[in-house]
Amino acid sequence: MNAPANIVPPYRHSPLFPLGKDLTPYRKISSDGVRVEKIMGQEVVVVSREALRALSEAAFADINHLLRPAHLKQLRAILDDPEASDNDKFVAFDFLKNANIAAGGVLPMCQDTGTAIVMGKKGRLIWTDGEDEAALSEGARYPDGSGFGLRVALAARLGVDPSWIVLGNGSNDVLEMAALAMLAPGRSCVFSEHAFAVYPITTQARGARAIVVPARAHGHDLDAMAAAIAPDTHLVFVANPNNPTGTWLPPAEIEGFLDRVPGRVAVVLDEAYFEYLPPALRADAVAWVRRHPNLVVTRTFSKAYGLAGLRVGYGIAQPELAALLDRVRHPFNVSVPALAAAEAALGDEDFLRRTLELNERGLRQLTTGLAALGLETLPSRGNFLLVKVGDAARIDRELLARGVIVRPVAGYGLPQWLRVSVGLREENERFLAALAQALQ
Ligand SMILES: Cc1ncc(COP(=O)(O)O)c(C=O)c1O
Repeated sequence: MNAPANIVPPYRHSPLFPLGKDLTPYRKISSDGVRVEKIMGQEVVVVSREALRALSEAAFADINHLLRPAHLKQLRAILDDPEASDNDKFVAFDFLKNANIAAGGVLPMCQDTGTAIVMGKKGRLIWTDGEDEAALSEGARYPDGSGFGLRVALAARLGVDPSWIVLGNGSNDVLEMAALAMLAPGRSCVFSEHAFAVYPITTQARGARAIVVPARAHGHDLDAMAAAIAPDTHLVFVANPNNPTGTWLPPAEIEGFLDRVPGRVAVVLDEAYFEYLPPALRADAVAWVRRHPNLVVTRTFSKAYGLAGLRVGYGIAQPELAALLDRVRHPFNVSVPALAAAEAALGDEDFLRRTLELNERGLRQLTTGLAALGLETLPSRGNFLLVKVGDAARIDRELLARGVIVRPVAGYGLPQWLRVSVGLREENERFLAALAQALQ
């Protein structure tokens, strides 16, 4: 499919294009076939079959049709902006349409109704040709069940063979594969108090016994965890950094722990927040995997890479253990758009760097603001902070009433604490102001 000459896709060299800057060349396209009409009292942008097809073909030939959530918001803002030109609206519309089709029509901000795309209250956009067969055919096919492209890309980055990578529908999926492969009634699983909720849930779901090791200073007590391993233990979960506490274990402690775990016991080292660590603190977990055939390190595209809604994560393990996990993996567990997005995101160093900067700044802002309110926080290595507020259930209700959603963590054995995610500066400010009121 060749792109018509008058269309210069702005994203040819950048699948995840920075909006604004890269939209500029797109504005040069002809607005033939695009007009604004009043239909049932609403302004609608009507796009002719030819115009839509030309633009769609160019777009589909060149991009992964994937946009980051922030892009989608910006595109929606263009559609809702009374000042934006018809042409800008059309471009925004087209990106949203493609993104929506690529996501199987599930993006809430851009609902594909077949003949119309409905976006928000203000703008209703209709295209005259409701079907774009070339585009839809992609979503009609199953994804590559082996996730070959992404596994190869990850393997190259990590310096291992692709047979060392297991893909998951989020890293959650890999955690559950580990439980499915290792646990059963009559077996036990060791994890820490206050550790990520999926560990007890998946242990219980397998009918296995949970050995919950008391935390030390809210974090994992690895000595106690090693000592707690029983003859029937087949799996140990370690989260580093941990959610919801944000606690982090230095590499030397993890290494010492791995040396003490018997080889018959599988260890999942859950590094969902790995990318938020400053480079100096990042340990070479792949070197640990090389030394320990019983170790799976899990990571995700949900957090620092900003692809939580697309669901893709992975495990790194030696081929024998990776193959074992693969045997209990759902076929086609990672969708077409998730595979493409993760592969594109992997090379998007700039995005990752900016995310880390934003997170560091947000953590500082929240820590300082909460200290000013006289509240205790735990030092966090994640993209969230745990704060001790006393009657957390009441404060949570007060915050909700002010439109601020945080995470109560009583279910984690922390009834006096709330977990707050790092947001944008204004969001953090809003949270701090609402909390100050709620505490009165
Ligand atoms: C410690 C930890 N591990 C794993 C996950 C799973 O994330 P995902 O399935 O989105 O990769 C989370 C998500 O909150 C987490 O906090």
